[in-house]
Amino acid sequence: MAEVSVSLFRILVLHGPNLNLLGRREVHIYGRVTLDEINAALQEYAAAHCAELRIRQSNHEGVLIDAIHEAMGWAEGLLINPGAYTHTSIALRDAIAGAGIPTVEVHLSNIYARETFRHRSWLTPVCVGQVCGFGWRSYLLGLEGLLGVLRDRRASSPQGGG
Ligand code: DQA
Repeated sequence: MAEVSVSLFRILVLHGPNLNLLGRREVHIYGRVTLDEINAALQEYAAAHCAELRIRQSNHEGVLIDAIHEAMGWAEGLLINPGAYTHTSIALRDAIAGAGIPTVEVHLSNIYARETFRHRSWLTPVCVGQVCGFGWRSYLLGLEGLLGVLRDRRASSPQGGG
């Protein structure tokens, strides 16, 4: 029987500032699910869908930017909840644009139903898409969408699928 090798989709997952407090932080907005629980759900989803995840959380803009640079050459996709840097960080936007890694932006809350300063994301224009408003499930929906995009890219690349 012919051996079929399927290479895993390598995804960097980045959580921005204050997301380490999930489960305790403004639970009426973000819910009671902790970051560890979200990461476990993402790892479970990844294992069932041919993906390998590296996951990091940082409260520091530069650390997030360094993580994106370090992922170049390894990651085929980036799933990011930039937290408040969504609304402030041109540097993070430039890192995403410069790395050229297909990126999906996620938010637990519906940022468009909140304060007006949250309505603008500097990152969305350099992302494949954005998922927001589904609580912890935004992450799984974002990962599903990102893997779909990566699957399509592989299928249409000169080497074909696999
Ligand atoms: C958030 C939305 C941001 O506006 C906020 O600053 C966060 C969390 C979300 O997941 O809903 O820290 O990114």
